[in-house]
Amino acid sequence: MSDIAVIYKSHYGFTEAYARWIAEELSADLLEAGMVRGRDLETYSAIVYGGGLYAGGVSGISLLTKNLDRLKGKALYLFTVGAADVSDPENTASIRRSLAKSLPPELMERTRIFHLRGGLRYSGMSLVHKTMLTMLRSKVLKTPESQLRSEDRMFLETYGKDISFLDRASIAPLVERVVQDREKERAQ
Ligand SMILES: Cc1cc2nc3c(=O)[nH]c(=O)nc-3n(C[C@H](O)[C@H](O)[C@H](O)COP(=O)(O)O)c2cc1C
Repeated sequence: MSDIAVIYKSHYGFTEAYARWIAEELSADLLEAGMVRGRDLETYSAIVYGGGLYAGGVSGISLLTKNLDRLKGKALYLFTVGAADVSDPENTASIRRSLAKSLPPELMERTRIFHLRGGLRYSGMSLVHKTMLTMLRSKVLKTPESQLRSEDRMFLETYGKDISFLDRASIAPLVERVVQDREKERAQ
C-alpha cells in the first residue's frame, strides 16, 4: 500500500486512463471514487483526484467537498479531463471559473489543479449525456458563424464520432509536481 492515492471518476474511460498512468508513475494506489469511503482518505498523505468534466462540473468531486475535515494536512492535487483543448488559455480559464463556483474556497486554494484532454465517446454514451449534447449542438448551430469558437467548430465537425486526445506525456507536470512536493517535505 502506498501513501499516495490516485482516485478517479470516469464515465467513458478517459479519466481512468490518465489515473492509471499517474498511479503507475507515482507507484500510488489507484481507486475508483465510488469504492472510496470518506474515512479511507485518512490513510493517505497525498491525494490526486481526477474527474471528467460535465457541463463545467468535475465528476464525483463531492468525495472531496464532503470530506474537507479529513483532508487537513494532506497534499491535494486535482486533474480535470474534458473534451476542450486545454492548450487554449481561454478554455482553461473557463474551466477554472466553473471550478471556483463549485469548489469551496478552502479546497480551491489548497489544491494544485491540472487540466488534461480526454475525448468524446458517442458509442455507448448514456441517453442523458446524448440528450445534453444534442441540445448543445442545437444551441451552437444557432450561433452566428462569426461568433463560433474553435471548440464549437470542432464539436460540430466531430459530432457523433468517437474522438480521443489521450496523451500520456501530458501527465508529466502533475507527476513532477507530486514528486517535487514529496522531496521538499522529506528535506524539511
Ligand atoms: C453531457 C456532456 C457534457 C460535457 N461537458 C464538458 C465540459 O463542460 N467541458 C469539457 O471540456 N468537456 C465536456 N464534456 C466532455 C467530457 O468531459 C469528455 O468526454 C471526457 O473525456 C470524459 O471523461 P470520462 O470518460 O473520464 O468521464 C462533456 C461531455 C458530455 C457527454
